[in-house]
Amino acid sequence: MRHIISPTDLNLSELNELLSLAEDIIRDPEKYSDACRKKKLATLFYEPSTRTRLSFESAMLNLGGSILGFSSADSSSSTKGESVADTIRVISSYADICAMRHPKEGAPYVASLHSSIPVINAGDGGHNHPTQTFTDLLTIKNLKGRFDNLTVGFCGDLKFGRTVHSLIGALSRYTNIKFILISPEELKVPDYIKEEVLLQNNIPFEEERCLVSAIPKLDILYMTRVQKERFFNEADYIRLKDTYILNSKKMALAKEDMLVLHPLPRVNEIAVEVDDDPRAVYFKQAEYGVYVRMALILLLLREAEGRKTC
Ligand code: NCD
Repeated sequence: MRHIISPTDLNLSELNELLSLAEDIIRDPEKYSDACRKKKLATLFYEPSTRTRLSFESAMLNLGGSILGFSSADSSSSTKGESVADTIRVISSYADICAMRHPKEGAPYVASLHSSIPVINAGDGGHNHPTQTFTDLLTIKNLKGRFDNLTVGFCGDLKFGRTVHSLIGALSRYTNIKFILISPEELKVPDYIKEEVLLQNNIPFEEERCLVSAIPKLDILYMTRVQKERFFNEADYIRLKDTYILNSKKMALAKEDMLVLHPLPRVNEIAVEVDDDPRAVYFKQAEYGVYVRMALILLLLREAEGRKTC
């Protein structure tokens, strides 16, 4: 059974297949409107979500399938003390595929060990968020036209931001990629990512405190919010939350074709005035999330059933 726990669970050729399928869905959605008839997607969300859960559900409905699930731990039996392992054993007999978000790093992986249906990690703590990464890659492919020869800046909470960790891992597989990691000292990229991904693959990177100094060098700026829910102490969050605010003045220093991505939700880190800048593509990015999740559901269900249509 194939599960998607990390973005590199798809090799480059499978990733290309996923992105090409998503592009075909964008061109001709009608062709896929019945592709998952009689199939069920369970969304098991133990943590808040707007885009990820609703785009998964929208994706399955667009494919002609049905959805079931819960949107908070409070409304599931985890409040009674049920383990993720027991929950997934039961859900395996209720649904054909599931997307799980959990505050604990590794919970979807544990679920995958006990599941007889494909498990998709929809965000596990401060660890990984593979389907956001596939969304980001579809955005870059469509709006930038390439994955190679890019200088990518990640700005904000690089310590707890799971979308950052996953996208660094995925982009590190391309040629001539350079990262500029823009964060305050307290929110730097974790050492395990520097050691196991960046240094191991000889990917050039700089750590930088100042967005203004970095922005002129970037082809892509990936903004993130400070992850309030992962702080142990509110005073630290309050001190760090407005470290970076991207505004029109800073955008004036950037390349004319730099793209601004953000997984959303935005808090204060991008001023609303930036939304009208054609380089600001975060709302388009959120739209791509539905198509890429349609493609992923289709591929996983096809593989699970070992036949061409699901
Ligand atoms: C991200 C997440 O949940 O990690 N949101 C999303 O899925 N689009 C980013 C965030 O919450 O900051």
